[in-house]
Amino acid sequence: MQVAVIGCGYVGLATSVVLADLGHDIIGVEIDPVKLENLSNGKSPIFEAHLQEMLDAGIKAGRLSFTDDHVSACGQAKVIMLAVGTPTRETWEIDLSQLESAIDSIAEALSSRNELNGTPLIVVKSTVPSGTTDYLSERLGSKTDKPYLIASNPEFLREGQAIFDTLYPDRSVIGANESSAFEILDELYSGLVSQNFDDSPPLPGRPDGYTSPVPVVKTSPRSAEMIKYASNAFLATKISFINEIANLCEEVEADINDVARGIGLDSRIGPQFLKAGIGYGGSCFPKDTKALHHHAGSRGYTFTLLNAVIEVNRIQRYRFLAKIRRALEPMGDKTIGILGLAFKPGTDDIREAPAIDLMRELNRDGAILKATDPRAIENAKLEFNSCEYLDDPYKVAEGANALVLVTEWPEFLDLDWKRIAMVMSGDIVFDGRNCLGREGIEGAGLSVIGVGR
Ligand code: UDX
Repeated sequence: MQVAVIGCGYVGLATSVVLADLGHDIIGVEIDPVKLENLSNGKSPIFEAHLQEMLDAGIKAGRLSFTDDHVSACGQAKVIMLAVGTPTRETWEIDLSQLESAIDSIAEALSSRNELNGTPLIVVKSTVPSGTTDYLSERLGSKTDKPYLIASNPEFLREGQAIFDTLYPDRSVIGANESSAFEILDELYSGLVSQNFDDSPPLPGRPDGYTSPVPVVKTSPRSAEMIKYASNAFLATKISFINEIANLCEEVEADINDVARGIGLDSRIGPQFLKAGIGYGGSCFPKDTKALHHHAGSRGYTFTLLNAVIEVNRIQRYRFLAKIRRALEPMGDKTIGILGLAFKPGTDDIREAPAIDLMRELNRDGAILKATDPRAIENAKLEFNSCEYLDDPYKVAEGANALVLVTEWPEFLDLDWKRIAMVMSGDIVFDGRNCLGREGIEGAGLSVIGVGR
């Protein structure tokens, strides 16, 4: 099937390479000239496991190409996917301008489209509040007389596992008002739903126990849009909940890691998203929780719980900062080594990353900063440059009064703590993710300060 994918970020690119692997013909539309040049040269503009290899394979097979020309890309496509950004404004209101301008380009493309190419299906993959697909449909209808179908089809991929999650989803959600829209997406996704594809490299292998067919939830566009927001809001709620329990554990001398294990074994609760720490970051949870809260307010509903989730997450990183200050004061001229800059392991993304906020505050306090990250140093430099960025965690430890682990990269989990203790000038390790083995650190003569234990 011919598919145009508008927007080549995490969602657009992961979708494009996977659909190309399943045998579809994909044209990615990207208006950022730097990203487009990279993609046209076969180079992924983002770091994401398996993405570069699958990009190479799709281009080599002649099933994947890129352009900045909406009209040519949408002129023949049976499916036009919208995967552009939906940032939130300062007011927490969602900014739909990228979607609106993509819809306007589609209107232009449809006007010059040959009717022999059939009625295209426009698929909204970007994360949007309930009612947005209907609104975009009205906008498109007011700008073209040509027929089209429209559907909401949110994605649930995680950064760092975008390809894996696209290939092996827990479910697929499709919201549409016409049966023909469901039929087209059934055809497009038939290989994914039946898992009828070869999972050898460059694909990540199918996980053991993964069963097909993948459940498909077919509903209205408004419900599909709500499923996406509600999923992210629920996961963010789980994190803020466990962080509050962790804060309380500190008061009563309980250990949050044991508590989380104890509650996660209840099958009604489940073990995932119960890792306490310095709070969630990234491009989704912070933005989507605020957008949903604002959306609720715009409909006259005060989403009390979500407001607390957002506030707990905001405060959590400052609680951690307060621990660092308490232990090291006076901060002036203290050298602090930061381990991890990305908002989570497996990505070079620093959007809403706790490390950046932490470094800004410590810098204001007069501390001298050194930092490392396996992937995110270049992005961090663009955001904050009052820091010495180094590739080697042992160099970061040299002369440091304290080390602060912010991102639980596997590279930091089995450091040689005796070697670190020898080069540090202080003896405190702050573990913002409760991921470091205490015995090894304490055995090296250092002390560990975590969250909730
Ligand atoms: C999230 C959703 O998981 C995904 O389904 C959605 O499509 C996009 O948003 P992502 O932001 O890539 O994905 O990362 P995720 O792995 O969910 O982690 C988000 C943040 O929560 C990270 O900062 C992570 O460190 C934090 N987190 C996660 C915790 O603090 N504790 C946990 O137990 C889990």
